[in-house]
Amino acid sequence: MSRTAYVTTPLYYVNAQPHMGHAYTTVVADVQARYHRLAGDDTYLLTGTDEHGEKIFTAAAEVGQQTQAFVDGVASRFVSAWEALRISNDDFLRTTQARHISVVTDVLQKIYDQGDIYFDEYEGQYCVGCERFLTDREITDGKCPDHKTVPEKRKEGNYFFRMDKHRQWLTDHIRATPDFIRPERYANEVLSILSESIGDLSMSRPRTRVPWGIPLPWDNDHVTYVWFDALLNYVSALGYPDGELFSRYWSYSRHFIGKDILKTHAIFWPTMLHAMGAPLYAGLNVGGFLMGDDGQKMSKTLGNVVDPFELASKYSADAVRYYLVKDVPYGQDSAISEAALVDRYNADLANDLGNLASRARALLLRHLEGRLPAPEQSETDQVLIATGTGLAAKVRELIGSLKYHAAFEEVMQFVRQMNRYFNDEQPWVLAKSEEGKPRLGTVLYNCVEGMRIVSILLEPALPDKAVQLRESLALLGGDLASTESWGLAPVGAVIPTEAAQLFPKAELPEKVEAVEAKKVEPGKEEAEKPQAKSKPVKDGAKDEASITIDDFMRVELRVAQVVACETVAKTDKLLKLDLSLGDLGERTVVSGIAGSYAPEDLVGRRVIVVANLKPAKLRGIVSQGMILAAEDEDGSLALVQPDKELAAGALVR
Ligand code: MSP
Repeated sequence: MSRTAYVTTPLYYVNAQPHMGHAYTTVVADVQARYHRLAGDDTYLLTGTDEHGEKIFTAAAEVGQQTQAFVDGVASRFVSAWEALRISNDDFLRTTQARHISVVTDVLQKIYDQGDIYFDEYEGQYCVGCERFLTDREITDGKCPDHKTVPEKRKEGNYFFRMDKHRQWLTDHIRATPDFIRPERYANEVLSILSESIGDLSMSRPRTRVPWGIPLPWDNDHVTYVWFDALLNYVSALGYPDGELFSRYWSYSRHFIGKDILKTHAIFWPTMLHAMGAPLYAGLNVGGFLMGDDGQKMSKTLGNVVDPFELASKYSADAVRYYLVKDVPYGQDSAISEAALVDRYNADLANDLGNLASRARALLLRHLEGRLPAPEQSETDQVLIATGTGLAAKVRELIGSLKYHAAFEEVMQFVRQMNRYFNDEQPWVLAKSEEGKPRLGTVLYNCVEGMRIVSILLEPALPDKAVQLRESLALLGGDLASTESWGLAPVGAVIPTEAAQLFPKAELPEKVEAVEAKKVEPGKEEAEKPQAKSKPVKDGAKDEASITIDDFMRVELRVAQVVACETVAKTDKLLKLDLSLGDLGERTVVSGIAGSYAPEDLVGRRVIVVANLKPAKLRGIVSQGMILAAEDEDGSLALVQPDKELAAGALVR
């Protein structure tokens, strides 16, 4: 049954160039929208730019540009960034557009006329970065926790929106509507804010101080507070109040935001909608922060940003998109780095998927004239077929509950299963005899058919590569439902003899340099060493014992809870532990701690696990990680444990 979906990103401030932090929310929203389209849902994706307010005005002045010319320039960078990342937005709204300004003006007048706005003097701590007054509770060590700047004390005559009176119904609504704010911890955060007075909202700025904004229709000396203006984009883009798009999409609206703008979206926005007499949005999905290489939230202010254009042009838009959704568990903070992107790309796309495709293609071309053969399925093929056709249901469920990393992991596990199938069936041996040919055909057909399913399920993350993969295997696209049947790869179709390598192995620039240095012929080292070209070696770099913060960040340490534990038969050192990583699922780890701990001592405990260690087989058990323990000189072990009851799955840094 097809449904309707209205997916939105935040509107990005045009005081900064697009960076990976912005790209993250946009890619997630795009993947969500593309899944809806794949499922046949009537879908609308909105993004855009937030162009009014004090900090934009100041940013333009700082570079000596007219404000309008400045915002035009940065807005077009955002348009190009989203093109470069293959974002499939249906609209791009700029808050300086007439269509938006007229909706804001009408809404303001309506709320003012009904007595929900009044004039008053206000004194408080203002953060220009946040563009709002901070409450005492929010200020940490005298500073704004997000911008690390000391807020300014300001006293101003402003108009106020009567927000506090909405506290009770909003609390009730959040409690009664589990998917109104997701993940759940953010709903709890909002409920905690709502447990005390939220005050009324200062919704105007004196024009003398902030000349860049939408004038209040009843008082030309004030402009609209930037948030009161920007939040309305979600309805102005649909032609509120009587646009056809508004009636078609609004009740299906799901906003994607970062956690720093939770309060504005979870409190200001619903109370504004209520006052306007408009229905509430359907849901708010809250992502965590991407951290820069200094371990801080990536932001222009902190100067630790990574450029999405650069990464997309080096590794392809698909590689960047896939990395963001596969490696960042939605809702949590994550450190990102170019090295981790390269690792993820090489492991999943170049090795697991790319190799399978090129091996299947090579055998088809060499032994079957490139023609997809009619399969004769046997009992042993049924496991593969069942996993493949069952994937869509799992993926749909996981994407619906915002577990993108787990959804793509399901698909990749199927790819790995196909690789095992390929290796076990040994089609290159089957090809050697005439009797082996029918089985060879079946094995290759099944791999191609499996890749048809994979290409469709990965397409929301890999819009270009999914199509190329299908072209290289003579396959057609399809919708989500088409992945629930086996056998749609067209028997008799001929694959192209030439196809560009889908996922060429990626290398970090440093590694490329190192490889080149190694290629120098013996005896010629001194003369030809490319030292003159390379950067001067820093003292620290010579010290092989030192690692960079990037190296460290590649180790994914997480809190895990021991669910079950037993000794491994015929050993006196090994324990087999079943660990829960909360939303990230369960896994088994084999650990050599039996000399210091009995299994029953461990059940229920929280431990720290290296979560991205390559799985290894120990005594026939696949161990998916390593538990951290300290060891003294006598060989006695002590497990490393968090000193508070943190949720299983929490990241350790
Ligand atoms: N203009 C407002 C939003 C108005 S929506 C009606 C704004 N703009 S912003 O450009 O500062 O941030 C936009 C979004 O980008 C926010 O959701 C923010 O969380 C996200 N990100 C910016 N840096 C980020 C990271 N380093 N990591 C993840 N997302 C971050 O706020």
